[in-house]
Amino acid sequence: MHITIVGSGYVGLVAGACFADMGHQVILVDNDQQKLDALNKGQVPIHEKFLPELLDRHRGRSLTFSDDLRSAVQASAAVFIAVGTPPTEQGEADLSYVESVARIIPSAINSYKVVVEKSTVPVYTSDWIRKIILRNAAPPDSFDVASNPEFLREGTAVTDFLYPDRIVVGADTERCASILRAIYAPLTDGSYYQRQDAIPRPDRAQTPPPLIITSTKSAELIKHACNAFLAMKISFINAVASMCESVGANVQQVCQGIGSDSRIGPRFLNPGIGYGGSCFPKDLMAFRAVARECGYEFRLLDEVMRINEDQRRRFVRKVHDALWTLRGKRLGVLGLAFKGGTDDIRESPAVLLVQTLLQEGCKIAAYDPAANERAREVLNASIEYAADAYEAASGADALLILTEWEEFASLDLDRLHQQLKYPIVIDGRNLYDPGTMAARGFTYYSVGRPVATSETLPLQEGAGAKKAIRS
Ligand SMILES: NC(=O)c1ccc[n+]([C@@H]2O[C@H](COP(=O)([O-])OP(=O)(O)OC[C@H]3O[C@@H](n4cnc5c(N)ncnc54)[C@H](O)[C@@H]3O)[C@@H](O)[C@H]2O)c1
Repeated sequence: MHITIVGSGYVGLVAGACFADMGHQVILVDNDQQKLDALNKGQVPIHEKFLPELLDRHRGRSLTFSDDLRSAVQASAAVFIAVGTPPTEQGEADLSYVESVARIIPSAINSYKVVVEKSTVPVYTSDWIRKIILRNAAPPDSFDVASNPEFLREGTAVTDFLYPDRIVVGADTERCASILRAIYAPLTDGSYYQRQDAIPRPDRAQTPPPLIITSTKSAELIKHACNAFLAMKISFINAVASMCESVGANVQQVCQGIGSDSRIGPRFLNPGIGYGGSCFPKDLMAFRAVARECGYEFRLLDEVMRINEDQRRRFVRKVHDALWTLRGKRLGVLGLAFKGGTDDIRESPAVLLVQTLLQEGCKIAAYDPAANERAREVLNASIEYAADAYEAASGADALLILTEWEEFASLDLDRLHQQLKYPIVIDGRNLYDPGTMAARGFTYYSVGRPVATSETLPLQEGAGAKKAIRS
């Protein structure tokens, strides 16, 4: 199948590389010439496991890069729109990038095309895309608009794409549904997974994935509802973690008890410093805005967002509890990306926390395995960028863990202890066992669990401090 993907960002580039690996001919179109030059030179603009291998395999053969949308559309049966849909100041999705792509497509229609929304868009966007294409003189039966929401997560994007829980296709005609079925056939018929050179299957993956066909409107709603539900699950467990801190309970034990209920499940019950990234914050606002437009006040979403912001404030309070005053204090920070496994810092709670702590007068040395460079574009020289976790910790009054990178969960604790001025770790991702940390000589603050310490000094942390674990 000949496919065009418009937008070569986190979603478009991964989708393009994966479609090529599934045996399709893919043209990736972008209007960022610098990005295209980098891709053509063999550079990989984002940090994503398996992406360099896939690009090496297919670049210049079944995967090409172009700024010529018209020629790409002419050569393709399906055109996936994967451009950004950032929030406007009012919190709605800005669909101007989607519209500008839709306006060019009609002049390139030389045979039946399926125009596929891959970007996350509000319900009714497919109707608008159709109207725009018709307004620009395309014959009504020369195209269909479908919705194929993307559920990949940054950090595991390639395996999420190739081993999805499900594939959702919103299509209002059988002609259009059959093209999307054919595109995903290597996954749904299992043939991709038989190949010797297939990207390795992650532990949890079940193959082949089901393909769920819905109306386009339902598919558009599925994506927004899915992200809103996941964000709600995070805020829910963060609220429970706050209760645990007040009463001296342990959220890890509570999660085990809740998550083993098969109706709830253990995934996404990870208390921390709140969700971030380029999707959840903007998609929740967009979902609330579209609900309001349709006459429904989705107040539950307001509360999910409020709890999320509160979670960052609570973390700053923890830093105060550990260090008393903050002006002039030196903090080591582990993690700047919004989550582990990615270099993406968009709406990263780690970056937002660093900015707050800088305002409080702290000096910060931070280390992220992949996001130092991107963070430098936002934080400039306001912080020091360390070469590893131990350099970030060197001479610090406390170490803050803000992103759940695997390497942060297996630090050499003796070396860390030696580096720090005071052996205080404030872990926003619950990567360590409190008892172990206390036994290794740290005072250890985490989320929703009692403070653990080997100190005999009085602890300053709400009622939970009374239940501190001492080694
Ligand atoms: N990042 C994720 O984890 C994720 C997951 C699922 C869905 N999504 C959704 O997918 C969409 C894309 O997200 P992303 O993170 O890949 O964005 P991104 O900002 O990384 O990439 C968007 C790309 O589109 C290009 N672009 C913009 N306008 C263009 C135009 N007119 N013609 C050609 N190229 C154009 C940009 O240059 C950029 O390379 C968004 O709607 C997002 O909500 C993202």
